[in-house]
Amino acid sequence: MKKNILVIPGDGIGQEVTQWGKAALAQIAKNYGHEFTFDEALMGHAAIEVTGNPLPEETLEKARKSDAILFGAIGHAMYDNDPSLKVRPEQGLLKIRKELGLYANLRPILLFDELLEASSIKAHILKGTDILFFRELTGDVYFGEKKRSEDRNTASDLMIYHRYEVERIAHKAFQAAQQRSKRLCSVDKANVLESSRLWRETVQEIAKQYPDVETEHMFIDNAAMQLIKNPKKFDVVLTANLFGDILTDEASQIAGSMGMLASASVGDGVGFYEPIHGSAHDIAGKNLANPLASILSAALMLEISFGLPEEAKALVSAVDQALKDGYRTGDIADQNTEASKILGTQEMGQLVLKYLAQ
Ligand code: IPM
Ligand code: MG
Repeated sequence: MKKNILVIPGDGIGQEVTQWGKAALAQIAKNYGHEFTFDEALMGHAAIEVTGNPLPEETLEKARKSDAILFGAIGHAMYDNDPSLKVRPEQGLLKIRKELGLYANLRPILLFDELLEASSIKAHILKGTDILFFRELTGDVYFGEKKRSEDRNTASDLMIYHRYEVERIAHKAFQAAQQRSKRLCSVDKANVLESSRLWRETVQEIAKQYPDVETEHMFIDNAAMQLIKNPKKFDVVLTANLFGDILTDEASQIAGSMGMLASASVGDGVGFYEPIHGSAHDIAGKNLANPLASILSAALMLEISFGLPEEAKALVSAVDQALKDGYRTGDIADQNTEASKILGTQEMGQLVLKYLAQ
């Protein structure tokens, strides 16, 4: 199979971790006789520094022409503490999601048994958890009109959804539920928000087309609580952009660390694969970041964009092997981890590649 992959490392630890997702893809190509070619492009703070634009036209063009995109992370501390800056790294990510029509963000909460102790939640509550989030990605307050009054004392962000936006992601989530345990939980705030009432009404309509799927509706505040109380209760979770952003960070603690979670953004065309973690400037350049989420993002690319489930499985198994052999990056180490088995980004990346090459 011939594929053209665009790599966008982005900012902070994005640079360090994405090189391992890319290397894992190259090793898979070698093992299975595929031809993957890689190109690179700028986005975020890295792009602002060079071009003044968080999403340069050249990056967008390359993205449109590619078969899949492997992305790292975005953001820089200098913007976090200065809300007045008009040009911001995150604008690049939001724009590329919108431009490429990436309306469905799939975030699997993949729980490796070896990491049960790395979570702050009790192991017996976690064990057996397997959740697939469908976060809507191109609507909501993220893209609604933003306003600031002339005296600058009042601000608003419009929370807006159109019926078709809810319908198209609901179909994707229901179809996934049919392939899994046939349970879907839609999360909203329909007791308060009109956009959530549209959401719920639409999901109820779509549900009729999937009578084999058991559908439940839950308010976001309750869902946030249930997720920690009894994560096994959930299978496919369908939710809006902002709620999904927050719930999936929370859910990352089920998997032990943000450093373990991969995501796939899909929709109209090319797929976009990225770890759910951010640019983590506090640890950037220190060889401390966990490269496994980038490697697992590459696995999602193989499975979803390229239809190569066997190759995807090989990647997940190599990660599993590293964990089974006791190796950890700092974020997933626990009190039982031998000091000699706590690895840096480079060493963990190399180890996974070694297992892959065997
Ligand atoms: C994510 C991130 C982004 C989001 C930020 C960086 C804009 O938190 O992908 O979850 O809020 O969508
Ligand atoms: Mg987020």
